Amino acid sequence: MALGNTPRSYGTVERTFHWLMALMILSVAPLGILAEGLPHDTAEAVARKALLFSLHKTLGVTIFLLALARLVWVAIQPRPAPLHPERRLETALAGWVHGFLYLSLVLVPLAGWVEHAATDGFAPILWPLGQSLPLVPKSPAVAEVAATLHVTFAWGLIGAIGLHLAGVVKHALVDRDATLARMVRGVEGGRGQAARHRGPALAALAVYAVAAGAALALMPSDRPASPPRLAEVASDWVVEEGALTFTVRQMGSEVTGSFGEWTAAIRFEQEPVAGRNGDVRVTIAMPSVTIGSVTSQAQEEEFFNVAGHPEAVFAADILPEGAGHVARGVLDLRGVEVPVDLPFDLEIDGETARMKGSVTLDRRDFAIGQSYADEATVGHDVRVDVALTARRAAAVE
Ligand code: HEM
Ligand code: HEM
Repeated sequence: MALGNTPRSYGTVERTFHWLMALMILSVAPLGILAEGLPHDTAEAVARKALLFSLHKTLGVTIFLLALARLVWVAIQPRPAPLHPERRLETALAGWVHGFLYLSLVLVPLAGWVEHAATDGFAPILWPLGQSLPLVPKSPAVAEVAATLHVTFAWGLIGAIGLHLAGVVKHALVDRDATLARMVRGVEGGRGQAARHRGPALAALAVYAVAAGAALALMPSDRPASPPRLAEVASDWVVEEGALTFTVRQMGSEVTGSFGEWTAAIRFEQEPVAGRNGDVRVTIAMPSVTIGSVTSQAQEEEFFNVAGHPEAVFAADILPEGAGHVARGVLDLRGVEVPVDLPFDLEIDGETARMKGSVTLDRRDFAIGQSYADEATVGHDVRVDVALTARRAAAVE
């Protein structure tokens, strides 16, 4: 049995590619639709949804890699000639649909992969490679564009498969010709000049460009920036820049989130008085939390409950400890007060102070994620990292 195509038949390699990938596409698309439609209201539902998405993504990435190999093969192989070259419109239409299918096999999973790589969290691809991609930044905006393209292209592909199958059925039932037998058994058929896919592939590319443009144009524009939620605070040290982030293991991999809006009122003297260097009061606007693709879940009642408790406060004394310092106080988060020690390093250079500290909390102390009792979905430990640069108030113009 010939491995390669001839001008009148499909060889084993192309037929294997076709049926293997047809099977994979007909599995991956329903998996995506099913996963998308599942709820995520309980721990079990989240685990089920994540598993289906992980299967969807892993199968999808496999399709992408196979599609690249298939395109190379198709490019170097002869095209079997059409069975009815005199039916020019029908032959052209079949060519267009094939071109669109080939292109979709690459672009649909690629857009999905970019969406995945641009976000943190939720369902991982079920092997370690490819969770991130070179040139793809972790960015909600990139993820949103890629998601819009992925979903639009995926439905375009589903539509093209519908046309493709309608053609197959017509050839089998109306024409009763060798179309299906050529692809199933490799039998010979076809007359005239072997067709090339270049024209249809270019036309398909144009359809893609128009669809991408339309999808992007119809995307909801950016939400207007919300007004600041926290009042300014008087502070001896004014925070000029800083980051307040937290890291948790989710589905086995580390995911980092951050709070975009917080204030700090800091009193600090280098020489301790009665064993104290000063005090600090950090107020965090909880709705400003973001954590990759699970931001909205993190805001829900089960986790940070930002609607019920829009502010968290850490009020602490600053004490010397060893070579560094510790902020020893109480964190009030979701209405639960827990004593917290935050050790930190401090560097003071003239009027500028740089601090960096880290503490690991147990989410269960704050009754966060109570229905996720074990660590399979969300770990218990949450590492909080703070880094900031502040200037002495008198030195700020
Ligand atoms: C040929 C391969 C693929 C096909 C046919 C496909 C198809 C689909 C479909 C039909 C949906 C549901 C669309 C809807 O909401 O109506 C979907 C969703 C999704 N797929 Fe894929 N997919 C493929 C590959 C991938 C890959 C490789 C990834 C990531 C590595 C991926 C990630 C996703 C994600 C994250 C969603 C949810 C989209 C959202 O944010 O709303 N897909 N896919
Ligand atoms: C069970 C469903 C399917 C059936 C029965 C089927 C059947 C066929 C048949 C009979 C041909 C040969 C057409 C000809 O000689 O002109 C063909 C070609 C083709 N099919 Fe399918 N197909 C199916 C699913 C798919 C899917 C899901 C895809 C990809 C997304 C796909 C992609 C292609 C492509 C790209 C060609 C053109 C091959 C070439 O000439 O280079 N098919 N299919």
